[in-house]
Amino acid sequence: MPRGDFSQQHLDLRIDGDRLMSRINALAEIAPIDGGGNCRLALTDEDKYGRDLLVSWMKDCNLEVSIDAVGNIIGIWNVGVGAPVMSGSHIDTVRTGGRFDGCYGVLAALEVIETCQKMGVTPPRPLSVGIFTDEEGARFAPDMLGSLVYVGGMSLEEALDVIAIDGAKLGDELVRIGYAGTTPCPGLIPHAFVELHIEQGPMLEANNVRIGAVTSVQGISWQEVTIIGQSNHAGTTPMSLRHDPAYIAAEITVFMRKLAITMGGDQVCTVGKIDIHPNLTNVVAAKATLTLDVRNTDESLLKQAESKISKFLIDIAIGEGVKITTRQLARFEPVIFDDRVIDCVEKIARDQGNTVQRMPSGAGHDAQMLARVCPSGMIFVPSVKGISHNPAEFTETIDLIAGANILLHTMLSLTTLESGDK
Ligand code: GLV
Ligand code: MN
Ligand code: MN
Repeated sequence: MPRGDFSQQHLDLRIDGDRLMSRINALAEIAPIDGGGNCRLALTDEDKYGRDLLVSWMKDCNLEVSIDAVGNIIGIWNVGVGAPVMSGSHIDTVRTGGRFDGCYGVLAALEVIETCQKMGVTPPRPLSVGIFTDEEGARFAPDMLGSLVYVGGMSLEEALDVIAIDGAKLGDELVRIGYAGTTPCPGLIPHAFVELHIEQGPMLEANNVRIGAVTSVQGISWQEVTIIGQSNHAGTTPMSLRHDPAYIAAEITVFMRKLAITMGGDQVCTVGKIDIHPNLTNVVAAKATLTLDVRNTDESLLKQAESKISKFLIDIAIGEGVKITTRQLARFEPVIFDDRVIDCVEKIARDQGNTVQRMPSGAGHDAQMLARVCPSGMIFVPSVKGISHNPAEFTETIDLIAGANILLHTMLSLTTLESGDK
């Protein structure tokens, strides 16, 4: 903990839980879906309505709001001197998203700033909230695209050319919804970054622990696999003469499950999207396209999984007489967060009377991109039954408020974090 820790001067300061919850609920009214969740795929009209609401709230808090060239929205409360301590996350969702994934982190960051303003607490450097474009990667790959461009990990030109699953171009969609901003990317480097997020997994609940001090984010490998076979009549084509992409897609899906189980440890493998063409009952398919999501906390094991998949794809293509091609959609190595930020989160959580555990993140987050340019970390709160990317995603209000209070004091503490290399 740095000397002269600013958070120590305001130990009793707490966020307004009702205000936070009312904003979470108001944002969830934009593009609701059955079951209590939302569908705000990146850069759709629904995403725009969510953005408009957030920008209006930021302006209500007298933040200096800028939109950068990839649509990231950055709000700065310009107090003190130097680079800001930034928090934030995303408000885009997967097609069947919950109301907390990303939105909680953004709204809690805004709540931290409003709390300080209303309570007359003026930190020694600016506080900032970032809303990053297309964190989910559900419409435009890769995931965390906006924060990746923000830190210079992908060029703006490349990002603007990304094509969505529905055929739209990212740059065109930014213009269409009015969020092709003028602030340059890469953006302003924060003094430090901390992101508050729901865990989205089962560990905190299973361990009866309220707060996760996140140590790392596992590596992510996404690829799209296209299988071209021989379309034919389902009734007349002998089994021995088939070159069937639907069958191969199923074999790959089974292989992915078996690979994760055989490797064990943290290895996870998912086929989340399969498209079959022409997708008819009595036609052997002509083509199948599927996505592979492969993750591990250990880079060498992730590489091992990738190479086993490559070999399997070669072998199975030969066996069935189909053509298989692959396209990398995302590839991020595991990220380790800054010890000082992890220590800070853990200490503040304990000082506020919470149970805490250190843990890696299974999901990808914008903080993993910010970690490339400044000391970064994350705070997790429990997800009931570990469910996320599902409208049933839920976190108890008491946990949401506890997490936001830890964010408040972590941000204040980081304002006095000494500068220097990570
Ligand atoms: C982002 O939500 C991810 O896929 O981890
Ligand atoms: Mn998220
Ligand atoms: Mn998500």
